[in-house]
Amino acid sequence: MAGGPLRRLAYRHRWLYDSVTAVSSLSVGGTARLRRLAADWLLAALPPGARVLDLCCGSGEAAAPLLAAGAQVTGLDIAPRALELAARRHPRLTTVQGLAENPPLPPGSFDGIQISLALHEFPADERRQVLRAARRLVTPDGRLALVDLHPAGPALRLPQQLFCHLFETETATAFLALDLGDELQRCGWHPLRHELLAGGALQRWLAEPLPPP
Ligand SMILES: C[S@@+](CC[C@H](N)C(=O)[O-])C[C@H]1O[C@@H](n2cnc3c(N)ncnc32)[C@H](O)[C@@H]1O
Repeated sequence: MAGGPLRRLAYRHRWLYDSVTAVSSLSVGGTARLRRLAADWLLAALPPGARVLDLCCGSGEAAAPLLAAGAQVTGLDIAPRALELAARRHPRLTTVQGLAENPPLPPGSFDGIQISLALHEFPADERRQVLRAARRLVTPDGRLALVDLHPAGPALRLPQQLFCHLFETETATAFLALDLGDELQRCGWHPLRHELLAGGALQRWLAEPLPPP
């Protein structure tokens, strides 16, 4: 696992990962609020009981609000240990181990997809594969909710740069230079809502699939 000097440590020691997340989420009101940012927009846009895919679900924190609202949630991640923890925490969560770039799931099988705090981990080509794969997996009237890094305003610029240097890979720095609205369009999505949070350090999007060309 490449990346900043503390990244490997943070992934190995849960308490460190959780502490870093807790501190960096203060600007949005805490970890629980951070983890429900994508779910809130998805739940507002979908009917009750919708089929939702949490792409790169990790240990299931961002799936929790979807499950609590009665959605049928599948969590996909590459990391078996994270999936084990997610399954233990959330018995109603269906877990799938696989690559977000090429998920082993049938086309059109979800009403909604969320990608919470994960897209910045992918190099450009893989990031586009993930967004295009999500487009294939969603129904024609489905929705995508996305939460990720955005270049912070002046107050949080330095802390964000320090965070990326210590804990993130170089893909996060490249992600900060990206126009995510353009990227969504290029990968088959039409943006419906967009919001900056945490002094501009986070961005949240809701999108619908563009008709196939
Ligand atoms: C920062 S965590 C975010 C977890 C969760 N979405 C959240 O909001 O708490 C990023 C997750 O992406 C997963 N991931 C990274 N590359 C992946 C890939 N190619 N396919 C599937 N999952 C991947 C990692 O295993 C990790 O669980």
